[in-house]
Amino acid sequence: MSNPLPKLQAIPHTIATVGDYEIAARERVSESAWAYLSGGASDEVTLARNTRAFSQLGLRTRVFADLAEGDTNLELFGRSFGLPILLAPVAFHRLAHPDGELATALGATAGGAGLVVSTQASITLEAVADQAATPLWFQLYIQPDRNVTLSLVRRAEAAGYGALVVTADAPISGFRPREQRVAFRLPPEIEAANLRGAPPPLTHTAGAGQPLLLGSPLLAAAATWRDFAWLRSQTSLPILVKGVMTAEDAGRALDEGADGVVVSNHGGRVLDGQPASLDVLPEIYDLVGDRAPVLFDGGVRNGGDVFKALALGARAVLIGRPYIWGLAAAGAVGVSHVIHMLRAELEATMALTGRRRLSEIDRTAVRC
Ligand code: GLV
Repeated sequence: MSNPLPKLQAIPHTIATVGDYEIAARERVSESAWAYLSGGASDEVTLARNTRAFSQLGLRTRVFADLAEGDTNLELFGRSFGLPILLAPVAFHRLAHPDGELATALGATAGGAGLVVSTQASITLEAVADQAATPLWFQLYIQPDRNVTLSLVRRAEAAGYGALVVTADAPISGFRPREQRVAFRLPPEIEAANLRGAPPPLTHTAGAGQPLLLGSPLLAAAATWRDFAWLRSQTSLPILVKGVMTAEDAGRALDEGADGVVVSNHGGRVLDGQPASLDVLPEIYDLVGDRAPVLFDGGVRNGGDVFKALALGARAVLIGRPYIWGLAAAGAVGVSHVIHMLRAELEATMALTGRRRLSEIDRTAVRC
């Protein structure tokens, strides 16, 4: 593979969809970074299901609807959002662009999307907060050491983050053949900036013929509902549990004091074989109803997809790869352009299905 091309300084008219950004991004990062940023777990069946589920769901248009005075505004946890779109937590943005999460924060602000900053961000959560003027949430991996977890929570509170998004679906990393084939390693100049000084991640080496995971210290240290209950008792910030794929887990999360859930299979990056997130969204929304916001990620590639997820019960969606591709191709401008494209497509879909407001988007807007 040849050397990465320079980042785009302006957006050419040939970039008209998120898919165009995928191509532009691939040419502008190393092969190794690309494997990490775009890959999925194992055979990438779930990754493919996430996008296919959207293409298989049709829209029900309505004609001659009164379209005066519409908007895409919503409220979440007492804050106003101008769009039902947040940028999903993704680790190490500096793999995509030298300015990393600082560029993402600028792009999110310009595009009007919320931003969920990763525990594994390559810029500190405080520096990102200084750069952003858009709602910020902090994604938390509950750490084996409670003091480390608590210090992250206190830092997020102090920096003005509005909610915690606790990722529950990745106590171990997924098998990532694409990363293995290119021998992916984090470049030495990129680090998990929020975890400076924290103990390094646990690793485990099994003897020949011994179980690799079961019975290992790795799984013994994995967070449980007990740790979640402890976390709940430590902060008054709203907490969302991310990685919920069954009604049972959604119900449990709310019973344990969560303020919302994020239906997500981690972008198909952890356990291959899971269904598309979109396919389980109705089951979860049917259980949760209006008790708490149900958010969604997995496979959103255009504004019509945002609309479809809302129709099946999501209050808002998170996008991952699309904005990372924007960042990798053109930095902050690419991020804001991706958000702009999704907004344009969402608004057009609302107009053509006769929906002026997000609250009017329900299951009758899609062909189930
Ligand atoms: C981390 O959460 C990853 O998906 O790589």
